[in-house]
Amino acid sequence: MSDSTSTDAAIEVWGLCKRYGAFEAVRGIDISVRRGEVFGLLGPNGAGKTTTVEILEGYRQRSAGDVSVLGEDPASRKRALRQRIGIVLQSGGIYSYVTPREALRHWAAFYPAPRDVEEVLALAGLQDKAAQPSRKLSGGQLRRLDFALALVGDPELIFLDEPTTGFDPAARRSAWETVRRLRDLGKTILLTTHYLDEAQELADRVAIMKDGRVLAIGPPRELGSGASSYRVAYRNHAGELIERQTDDPTRLLNELTAEALARGERLEELSVGRPTLEDLYLELTADG
Ligand SMILES: Nc1ncnc2c1ncn2[C@@H]1O[C@H](COP(=O)(O)OP(=O)(O)OP(=O)(O)O)[C@@H](O)[C@H]1O
Ligand SMILES: [Mg+2]
Repeated sequence: MSDSTSTDAAIEVWGLCKRYGAFEAVRGIDISVRRGEVFGLLGPNGAGKTTTVEILEGYRQRSAGDVSVLGEDPASRKRALRQRIGIVLQSGGIYSYVTPREALRHWAAFYPAPRDVEEVLALAGLQDKAAQPSRKLSGGQLRRLDFALALVGDPELIFLDEPTTGFDPAARRSAWETVRRLRDLGKTILLTTHYLDEAQELADRVAIMKDGRVLAIGPPRELGSGASSYRVAYRNHAGELIERQTDDPTRLLNELTAEALARGERLEELSVGRPTLEDLYLELTADG
């Protein structure tokens, strides 16, 4: 790694491994997240996303490899580093009798320059529930509180482990807005998600993990369409859906439409598309 690369990077991971007993949950991954980037970690249940994220947060110890977070080793668990990062854990949770406002005030006190608590309550859409004991909040509202807790310290690096799981569609949109605003402020964000549309919307780059390995890494749009092929689909006269792969859709369309016209038929539901992030994800993570 050159010096200039290291100063650009908020997170660097080289050959990271994590074993739980004899089980290898993370098997030598390399990831570099630039400052100001939104980076998405994707992968099926058990891929090793939370393990990786929690090692970066300093919540778990690694078995092997090197890790640098804002220039520090998170395993040292220095307070100064922890004050520069914000975290949404996959399984959050606060005492049932604490209200969102109290939780945020309490947590804000840990940071040197926190954001205004009322502003963060509004940002998370929790103004109306600010004084309710958390046991009276819905699952999605509790998750919004987790999100608010990650923002209240105004950290420069934010880890979001499935931040919008359980959100209703409107809450998800507003969380996306918040992530975009944080990005505009120059914050670095590492998020995991099972929603590929979320990754597509938010992430500058994503890594697809499976069985503790990174299988692909890159901007979501390029990853999806990185395969050079196009997909042409239509319904034939018998009503069957026909799908063809091609590198040259112009030529294929010309042939197909000419043949159809010659037969006096129409190509119903004709479409030309590029493989999406979801297509690639499903292909890479398929079993077998
Ligand atoms: N504390 C632990 N002890 C033993 N095994 C663990 C522990 N934590 C995780 N694992 C195992 O490590 C693997 C990776 O788990 P991890 O939680 O990192 O996956 P994930 O990608 O976050 O999955 P999900 O999408 O379900 O959140 C899983 O097989 C899991 O069972
Ligand atoms: Mg997880």
